Amino acid sequence: MTRPLPSRIVDSVLEGSIVGSFSRMGPLIRSRLPGWEDFPRMDGMTAVVTGGTSGIGAAAARKMALLGADVVITGRDRKRAGDLRKTIRAALDRDAIDTVLGDLSDLGSVQHIARTIVSRHPRVDVLVHNAGALLRDRTETRQGIEMTVAVHLLAPFLLTEELLPALRAAPHPRIITVSSGGMYTQRFELPGLEMPLDQYNGTVAYARAKRAQIVLTEEWQRRYGPEGFTFHAMHPGWVATPGLDTGLPLFGRIMKPLLRTPAEGADTIVWLAAGSPGSTHGGQFWCDRTPRSPYYLPGTRPGAARALIEGKALWKWCTERIQDGLRHTGDR
Ligand SMILES: NC(=O)c1ccc[n+]([C@@H]2O[C@H](COP(=O)([O-])OP(=O)(O)OC[C@H]3O[C@@H](n4cnc5c(N)ncnc54)[C@H](OP(=O)(O)O)[C@@H]3O)[C@@H](O)[C@H]2O)c1
Repeated sequence: MTRPLPSRIVDSVLEGSIVGSFSRMGPLIRSRLPGWEDFPRMDGMTAVVTGGTSGIGAAAARKMALLGADVVITGRDRKRAGDLRKTIRAALDRDAIDTVLGDLSDLGSVQHIARTIVSRHPRVDVLVHNAGALLRDRTETRQGIEMTVAVHLLAPFLLTEELLPALRAAPHPRIITVSSGGMYTQRFELPGLEMPLDQYNGTVAYARAKRAQIVLTEEWQRRYGPEGFTFHAMHPGWVATPGLDTGLPLFGRIMKPLLRTPAEGADTIVWLAAGSPGSTHGGQFWCDRTPRSPYYLPGTRPGAARALIEGKALWKWCTERIQDGLRHTGDR
């Protein structure tokens, strides 16, 4: 939908200010502009939200359940998953939340999560890749993969592949990846993705993985778009969550009065999930219900031909890294 010109002008001014856009001022102002509409209902739809036990993922799960969807949340924390399920059951008087526990850093566990979901929900309309964390120290997964890359990139890749049969059973499957504005600082470079110990910087590793999510979203769209899939990446803004407290404590303290609520951070996820088919184009990067350029800084934008090469190279790398990883632990 094209919004009225005054709304677009205000939106652009906010975007140019960066702080105005990413802080709580973004949704505060944009939601009052003409063209910002209520969410459509999601009755009859099934949505999967990774990292649905906390922060933005929990807020997205709650809102989609309130809109009528059946929601599957994944996470590692049994108590938090159970608590969210109970709260929503009490609010709605129906058991709208299913929980599937598992660690997305472990490729075997990703397979187990996916197979459990498919066995219980043969049709999945919406898949939200939300789970993630900014990790100060470098660690490796059970398969010997750097943790940030494993959770933000390989887990979404494998989970999507494993859920394809259930996604194909939906009339208009949509896959939404929660990236971050942090990715603006990095250009995509495959060799620098899995950072070795002597170069490791948690913020850079996170930003590179989030940049790679944008490249993967574009590649997903090229590969599966012709089948009717829609892939989106989005930035939730700066949101007050346990993840922000742990990952960027100083930033979180300084920005505290300006941080969004988890519901404000989840707004665009739910809007993309609930929107009518064809209302949004796939392969784009969104913030506050509007597609944004994924490039602000010089040197981060590849040319069109290079973008295609990078997408293909990332796909090949993810496929091979997953195969090697699963072979390493004998999971397949
Ligand atoms: N907060 C912000 O300002 C901000 C800004 C930009 C982007 N983001 C992105 O938004 C997403 C959600 O972050 P948040 O701020 O809401 O953080 P959060 O409150 O810490 O939530 C993170 C979720 O991810 C799950 N998770 C993390 N590692 C996992 C693993 N190895 N296996 C399974 N689940 C895992 C956690 O589940 P368990 O603890 O139950 O395992 C939790 O539900 C992340 O991708 C983050 O990068 C956040």
